[in-house]
Formats: sequence, C-alpha cells, structure tokens
Amino acid sequence: MKLSVLQFNPIHKNVKLNYTIIQNYLANITDSIVVLPELATTGYLFEDPEELYSLAEEVPSGKFTEILMEISKKNNIVIVSGIAEKEGENLYNTAIIVSPKGYEGKYRKINLFYKEKLVFKYGKELSVFKIDFLGGQIKLGVMICFDWYFPEVCRGLKLKGAEIVAHPANLVLPYCPMAMPIRALENKLYTITANRIGKESSPNEELKFIGQSVICSPKAEYLLKLSSEDQGVFCVETNINIDPKITKYNNLDEEIEKLYLERLFFTKNS
Ligand code: ACM
Repeated sequence: MKLSVLQFNPIHKNVKLNYTIIQNYLANITDSIVVLPELATTGYLFEDPEELYSLAEEVPSGKFTEILMEISKKNNIVIVSGIAEKEGENLYNTAIIVSPKGYEGKYRKINLFYKEKLVFKYGKELSVFKIDFLGGQIKLGVMICFDWYFPEVCRGLKLKGAEIVAHPANLVLPYCPMAMPIRALENKLYTITANRIGKESSPNEELKFIGQSVICSPKAEYLLKLSSEDQGVFCVETNINIDPKITKYNNLDEEIEKLYLERLFFTKNS
C-alpha cells in the first residue's frame, strides 16, 4: 500500500488559489492514501468566526468535496483533507474523507487548540471508515492535529478497529513528530501525519508551522520524516501488516480487553 502526505504552505484566506495548488500537487499521484494538512483551503489563523464564515464550506455539498471526489476517482486515490466546515451558524474544524467511489464521510476535531476555541464548535464523535480500495478494505481512523496529544483518541480509534490513522495537522508545538511513533506502537497501527509549513500572522501574533510530516509503523519506525521546509507529495510503500502479538505471552488486543474489562474498571478497591 502506498501512503502519502502533502506538505505545503496554504495561502491564508485564499481558498481558490489553495484549490489550484492542491489540484496541481495531486495531479500525478495514483493508487495511494493521501493525507493533506488541517484547514488546507483557508489557512489556520482566525480569531473570530465571522472572519472565517464566508470561507468555510458545507460538507459534502461544497466545492472542495466535489474537487477532491473528482481527483480521487480520476487518480484512484483515497484522500483525507482538513477543511473549515460550516453547518448552519456553526463552524467545525473538519476532515473530509473521499475514495474513488465518492464521499466516505467526515470527522470533526474533538480537541480544539488555542484560539480555535474562539471559532469552532467541538466535534463529538470518533469514526473509523471502512473503505474498499485496491481490491481490499482499509480501516481508516481520522484525527486532527492536537487530538494527538490525547492518547485516548488514537486508542479510541484502535478500539473501533482502525489499522491506519490519517492525521491532518497544522502543528506549531514541537512535540508531535516525536510522539507519533509511540501512538503507532502502543496501538499497533500506521499513522500518517500531514503537517503544513510556513507562517501566518494576525494583528495580534505570528504562528510558525513546523512541517516535519511523519508516517509511522506499528514498530515505532519512521517510514517517512520530512523537514520543516519540504514541500510536495511524499510517498512510502509498505505492507499493512498488523500482528497483535507483542510477545509469545502478550497479545495487544487481548491485553486491552483485559485492561478495560477486568483490571481497571471492574476491580474492587482494596
Ligand atoms: C493544532 O491543533 N492545530 C495545533
């Protein structure tokens, strides 16, 4: 299976130009899962919902979902991309999932970071998408950026059956690229973190995004690790091979079940 990230510098508040940039980057990529950054069409820094509302889109009826579905079908790729979603008066920091068959679903970010709390409503649901692709089925969990900080999110996706976690991001803190191999190891799944690069400013501050997109294996390996400057689509080829065994005596799935059902929640306090 080919796993890919698009790392680039979205142009702040210029949705149409970002459509074109994304279309150009994805034009030659085929037969892959491709993850794009968080808020890939609008940029990141908004301090007031009114600033963002006219740039946000409905999902799946908006233009960007349509563009992604078209590329996905033409190039035979599964795409996960961040977008600012509007539904009625509300805004969500959302990821769209499309496959060559069409729209697969969306995930709304649960753990809002910093000034996102001034703009977006919280997502409330974790989903794993079962997608028919390349003659098999992929079990794709989705989380967005700061969700990585809360191990419950990746574990929740594992408990719902995820084998691969797509992770659109706009990271500004330095820690996530170090943590992702451990998220992959402790949950025995593959992770694909697509981060953006560049800077954005408002009258109040400037944010610098760290790049360093990473793809990690259940053995805590970096299959891909980009720099803070790399731009473009970067791919790795890997067999999705998830063996729940840790040792001869330890099987992760059984250990997790015992942890939750016997050792943690149903033991009496002594
Ligand atoms: C983040 O959640 N965008 C850091």
